[in-house]
Amino acid sequence: AHIWRGVIREYEQYLPDHVAETIVTLGEGGTPLVAARRLSELTGARVYLKVEGMNPTGSFKDRGMTTAMSAAAYRGAKAVVCASTGNTSASAAAYATAAGMTCAVLVPDGKIAMGKLSQALAHGATLLQVEGNFDDCLVAARKLAETYPVELVNSVNPDRIEGQKTAAFEVVDTLGTVPDIHALPVGNAGNITAYWKGYREYKDAGVTDALPRMWGFQAEGASPIVQGHPFDEPETIATAIRIGNPASWTQAEQARNDSGGVIEAVTDEEILAAHRLLSAEVGVFVEPASAAGAAGVLKRAKAGLVPQDALIVITVTGHGLKDPAWALRTLEGEEIKPVRVSADVVSIATALGLG
Ligand code: F0G
Repeated sequence: AHIWRGVIREYEQYLPDHVAETIVTLGEGGTPLVAARRLSELTGARVYLKVEGMNPTGSFKDRGMTTAMSAAAYRGAKAVVCASTGNTSASAAAYATAAGMTCAVLVPDGKIAMGKLSQALAHGATLLQVEGNFDDCLVAARKLAETYPVELVNSVNPDRIEGQKTAAFEVVDTLGTVPDIHALPVGNAGNITAYWKGYREYKDAGVTDALPRMWGFQAEGASPIVQGHPFDEPETIATAIRIGNPASWTQAEQARNDSGGVIEAVTDEEILAAHRLLSAEVGVFVEPASAAGAAGVLKRAKAGLVPQDALIVITVTGHGLKDPAWALRTLEGEEIKPVRVSADVVSIATALGLG
C-alpha cells in the first residue's frame, strides 16, 4: 500500500531544493476530494470539495507550514513568529514543536476561535493577544522578524506558498484533469496565490494543458480586493478571513485576471447558510470562513453565472471543530439544544417520533 509521506516528499520535484534538506512534517496533504451531490444539484455543475480540514492541525495551513518550517530548520532557526486569525498560529505552533523550535504568535484580541487558541497553547506557543486586528498583527510580526532572531512564517514567506501550491497538484492528480473553476475563500490571499501557482506549474511541466478560472470570495465586511481599497476595521463572523489589507493582494488580482476569474463578496448570512448546507446537506463540517467558497458558488449559480456541467472544485479550508459553536444555533440565531429524555426505550422512541 502507498503510505502518504507529506507534501514535500510527495511533490519534491516541484519544490525548491532547500525545503527538502531538513524535512519537518506531520504528514500533511493527501486530503479528500469529495463529490458534493447536493451542491451539484443546486448549481447544475459537477462540484467537488477539497476538504482541507483533514490536514494534521485541521486547516490548509499545514501544507505551507511544512515547507516554511523545513526551510527555517535548514537555515538553523531556533524561533518562529507569525500573525494569525487562528489557523496559521495553530499550524505554526504544531510544526515548531515538531522541529524543536519555539513559536510566538500574535493574534487579534478576542477575535480568534476557541479551537485555534487551544491548539496554539496546547502545542506550547507563546501567544500574545494584540490590541488590534490581523493587519496590525502582521505589521508587528514582520518588523519583529526584521529586527530580532526569529523567522516569519506567514504566507509572505515564499516557502509557505511553495507548500500550499501542492493542493492544486492533488486536485489534478485526483480528478485526472483540471477543473473548469476553482473556488475558495480569500483572506490574506496567500491560498489563491498558491493554487494559481500550482496550476500554472503543472501546465508548464506538461502535466496538464489547461488552467481553471479562479473564483475567490471575501466576506462583505472584509472585502478590500472587491472594493479596491483597504478596510481599516474589517468585520465578519468569519474571523479567519477578517482581514482588511491582504499581504498578497496584487498576486490575488493577478490570479483573477490571468485566469479570467472573479473575486467577489458574500455576506455573513450567505456564509452561514452555506456553512449549514455543507454540514446538514453534504456531510462536511467546516468552520464559517471555509464556507465562503461554497457561498460564492451558490450565489453565482442563483444569478445564472455557473456554466452547466462545469467541473468545479471548492476548497473548504478549515475543520468545523475549530469553531463549533456555530452549529449550535439556527440561522435566525436561536440556540439549538439537545432533547433530554429518561433512559427507557419508550420515551426514547417517542422522542424520535417512532412510537
Ligand atoms: N479559510 C480559513 C479557515 C483561514 O484560516 C484563512 C486564513 C483563509 C480561509 C484565507 O486564506 O489568507 O490564504 O487568503 N487564515 C489566516 C490565519 C489569515 O492566520 O490563519 P488566505
